[in-house]
Amino acid sequence: MQQKYDTRNDGILIWVKDRLCTRSEAKVSVFDSAVQGGDAVWEGIRVYNGRVFCLDRHLERMQNSAHALAFANVPTNEEITQAIFKTLEANGMRDGAHIRLTLTRGEKITSGMDPRLNQFGCTLIVLAEWKPPAFPPEITLITSSIRRNNPMFLDSKIHHNNLLNNILAKLEANYAGADEAIMLDMHGYVSETNSVNIFCIRNGQVLSPTADSCLPGITRGLVIEICRENGIPIAERNLSVMEFYTADEVFCSGTMGELTRVSEIDGRKIVNKSKLEVLADIQGYFRKLTREWGTVLPF
Ligand SMILES: Cc1ncc(COP(=O)(O)O)c(C=O)c1O
Repeated sequence: MQQKYDTRNDGILIWVKDRLCTRSEAKVSVFDSAVQGGDAVWEGIRVYNGRVFCLDRHLERMQNSAHALAFANVPTNEEITQAIFKTLEANGMRDGAHIRLTLTRGEKITSGMDPRLNQFGCTLIVLAEWKPPAFPPEITLITSSIRRNNPMFLDSKIHHNNLLNNILAKLEANYAGADEAIMLDMHGYVSETNSVNIFCIRNGQVLSPTADSCLPGITRGLVIEICRENGIPIAERNLSVMEFYTADEVFCSGTMGELTRVSEIDGRKIVNKSKLEVLADIQGYFRKLTREWGTVLPF
């Protein structure tokens, strides 16, 4: 499914570096590292019911990604939180909003790859938009020919803006008329889709690929916690596409789409032979968390 333009976002204010700008003013320099080399880190965060969901986990992952890339003069969590609060308040957003939080290595003194050319500190962007979950209730997948990055090349645990690995897979999904593309790891096991994590459920047991060559998503982590706390059997192991084709239920997890059922993979329908409705239970627990958890907005 392709997201549509939402006219409620015509007049939004966007935080760039140290101030709020209108949509048409919100720009980064052509010397910015994100333009020059995709040299930036990012988070997708949702706002539900007057709270920023899992803000502390997102900030921790962003700081870890920035540290792994050796960014200098990184804003503190408190500074980033204040920029988020000011942006949400300026836009009157307390529910139903999505934040694309980006931190670039900043502006360079001249074009080039060398991080020593970055002498002005990081650029922080808080792009908050009105945005419902990006997926319909059920989605279809194909298996991509593009392998997911792994620590041998570019560690997918760094949540960076160098997204061409995923975009190439998404192009294959688009050409095939599917919603998302499953990306395999270098051994042929399922890692995740181009933009979300993936699970299958077999005979009442929830199974997740190991987090070796996927982003260890925050929603993925919550699903694992929900299962453990509610007595739903859960395991992480290598899984082949065959185990997804023949699973009772398959679903994806991510901030953008929340928990989304997969109806078909590579033309194979996912048929529930067990008659258990484990995904519906997990979705119920997750929905409850989104209403109750998170950093309370001060306005
Ligand atoms: C490649 C990829 N996998 C999975 C996810 C889901 O992560 P999260 O649950 O933290 O949103 C994302 C989200 O940014 C992603 O880009």
